[in-house]
Amino acid sequence: MQWCSWKVKVILLTLIYIFIQYTFIHYFSTGTHHFCPQLRPANSRTFIQHQAPQEPTHSFNSGRKRQHILLLAAGRSGSSFFGELFNQHPDVFYLYEPEYHVFKALNMTPTSNDRRMALGASRDLLRALFLCDLHRLEDYIVPQARDHVTDHLKRRGASRALCSPPLCDSFFGPHHLRNISESYSEEVACRETCGPLNLTLASQVCRWRGTVVIKTIRVPGVGDLQDLLEDPRLNLKVVQLVRDPRGVLASRMLSFPRSYPQLRLWKMKRRRPEGLDLTQEVQVCENFLRSVTIALRRRPAWLRGRYTLVRYEDLARNTPQVTRVVFEHLGLSVEDVILDWIQENTKAEYDEASGVDAYGTRRDSAATSEQWRRRLSFDMVEYLQTLCAATLDQLGYRTVHSSAELSNVSLSLVQERTWEPFQ
Ligand SMILES: *[C@@H]1O[C@H](CO)[C@@H](O)[C@H](O)[C@H]1NC(C)=O
Ligand SMILES: *[C@@H]1O[C@H](CO)[C@@H](O)[C@H](O)[C@H]1NC(C)=O
Repeated sequence: MQWCSWKVKVILLTLIYIFIQYTFIHYFSTGTHHFCPQLRPANSRTFIQHQAPQEPTHSFNSGRKRQHILLLAAGRSGSSFFGELFNQHPDVFYLYEPEYHVFKALNMTPTSNDRRMALGASRDLLRALFLCDLHRLEDYIVPQARDHVTDHLKRRGASRALCSPPLCDSFFGPHHLRNISESYSEEVACRETCGPLNLTLASQVCRWRGTVVIKTIRVPGVGDLQDLLEDPRLNLKVVQLVRDPRGVLASRMLSFPRSYPQLRLWKMKRRRPEGLDLTQEVQVCENFLRSVTIALRRRPAWLRGRYTLVRYEDLARNTPQVTRVVFEHLGLSVEDVILDWIQENTKAEYDEASGVDAYGTRRDSAATSEQWRRRLSFDMVEYLQTLCAATLDQLGYRTVHSSAELSNVSLSLVQERTWEPFQ
């Protein structure tokens, strides 16, 4: 009897095992797609409905998966202007360089030698902010927020969402005139009249909008974003804005004259000063090159369908067209308010001599993108060209070989280039 029941048990167990295995294989061969979460934003609009509360006034995000967009740029590369295009979108929750607070708290400049800690912390902060947890900012903002309310979020006024109801009742309410050409003074006005920012409420507002867009200038390159791009909780796309490094240098000289005493000396004396330090400029070139090499040559799987490259010069010359292409790639609608904003802000007179509005976005953008040709002397340009040769070549910027070429404005230094989208 003992022997018999043992044998029966073995047979029964075997049968159960076969049955389970059969069911398992059958289930997975027919039902995989029910089982795996959809992580990628395929081009179709069949997305899992997110659970965030929906703001009743508009429905841009109904039925679409929440989207996260990082504008990856370098300082003085036209990123404020670029960011504004996103900031105008009614479904976008826009944040302006929030990683500033991390670098500031850790006492680091964008060019400090060992920035790993600041970068790691920035990455964690970006992740939290994309997920609409604005409380994480409290770890870095000085002085510390009280009751989740702060007066010290850097450039809060640069975010329309943070200056609109319910976070601020003075602006963009139902009766606010759409005087969008005043965006810079609007920023000042927001800072001065909106009162402290409630980060709890701001997190809520963030969840109401379908797309979170963050502009950063302190992340060196796309290689530093692999972690975020692979994070299944995020649906991240990176838009990298590059600019002719000669233009970046000229713009920095104009905006931060005191940081570049050697360059001013060079320009005045027409001779390269001894021990000239252009580490920062070379860094810009190397960062651009490294990113572009990864994104357009190596093309790793984690970046597929998630990367767009924009040259500031193309954007400046044909803002509506470039905006359309970029927004389409991101699945964002090109709202009329955005086209209006472009109309208003790409033609304005820019007071070059005084450098007024150097931080703002009102300017004749097409002219601004080539102003460096008048600001830098030929030997400066020539020297920078030798330092950045590979980057200029990769990004399609022509080098000049004489001061006549440099000042000849009918000679374009921006080659026609289109990059295959990385789908
Ligand atoms: C901040 O907003 C939240 C959510 O609306 C609210 O519950 C809280 O009382 C506000 N905090 C302050 C200090 O007003
Ligand atoms: C400026 O460049 C254009 C186009 O290359 C050329 O035809 C013209 O001769 C140049 N003018 C001068 C003054 O060098």
